[in-house]
Amino acid sequence: MTNPMSYAGKRVVVTGCYSGVGEALVHLLSDLGADEIIGLDIKEPTCPITRYIHCDMGDPDAIDAAAAEIGGPVHVLFNNAGIAANLGAINVMKVNVFGLVRLTQALSDHIPQGGAIINTASIAGMNWPAHQEEIMELLSIDDWDKQVAWAEEKPEIVADGYMFSKECVQILTMLRAKDLIKKKVRIASACPAPIDTPLLPDFRETMGEAMIDWTAHEATGEYVQPSEVANLLAYLGSDAASYISGTNVNIDGGFQGGVITGQIDFSTMPAA
Ligand SMILES: NC(=O)c1ccc[n+]([C@@H]2O[C@H](COP(=O)([O-])OP(=O)(O)OC[C@H]3O[C@@H](n4cnc5c(N)ncnc54)[C@H](O)[C@@H]3O)[C@@H](O)[C@H]2O)c1
Repeated sequence: MTNPMSYAGKRVVVTGCYSGVGEALVHLLSDLGADEIIGLDIKEPTCPITRYIHCDMGDPDAIDAAAAEIGGPVHVLFNNAGIAANLGAINVMKVNVFGLVRLTQALSDHIPQGGAIINTASIAGMNWPAHQEEIMELLSIDDWDKQVAWAEEKPEIVADGYMFSKECVQILTMLRAKDLIKKKVRIASACPAPIDTPLLPDFRETMGEAMIDWTAHEATGEYVQPSEVANLLAYLGSDAASYISGTNVNIDGGFQGGVITGQIDFSTMPAA
């Protein structure tokens, strides 16, 4: 019997694989037998990718060029690259949302039946119901400059960019599933709590050390490890997850469930 977690015979694309979750994911996909792993990043990775394409996910021309170079088939696209608010709200929206949308659109015709688009979102996007209408409006815009203009005109919603960007990724995942499944292509997201990666100091700077520590404390008491997030991403992209689509899967040690059921003690939450 074929192992449904196997990536043998698959050609996959991973964005943001120089470090952290993406790096751990590439190691795992290689162990799981992926035929070809194409890595897109601004820094050249040392993990076992088979091809590196230098690509700034905040630059539409670079994304178009990378997509043309990748061609097809792409069995699984892992949209993992992400930056924190210290790089500015509009840059965050470009890399975390507009670039992700553009690469996905550019490659979607190359994703065959049984393929998948797997996003790294975040529990930072759990407040999406507050902005659903605005996000649906933003996601209906095709043009890069108009997307950027929309974000620039709504600082009261976009705020520092990070939480809003991950709300967008969670809604995108739910929104695109219906059309994609007609082509038998799935889309899903992993939504991690704070992960022990090189990005964590940026979150400590922008969200406050106390807030990041409090979130981890209210989850399991520890940070999620990049390999644990990679395990979920690899599962979601594999045939083992063949009926999973349009879903944002929390990997947060029970944090969001605790919030929804009133078991998180917000009186201990540090001021932002
Ligand atoms: N670290 C956390 O606490 C945490 C929590 C939830 C979700 N996430 C998400 O996990 C994903 C991976 O982040 P990570 O924690 O592994 O951090 P990381 O900084 O280790 O990884 C981010 C990767 O993206 C690459 N990158 C940065 N800017 C880029 C750009 N403009 N174009 C292309 N690549 C670029 C980096 O070089 C790096 O390889 C991100 O989407 C992040 O938002 C992180």
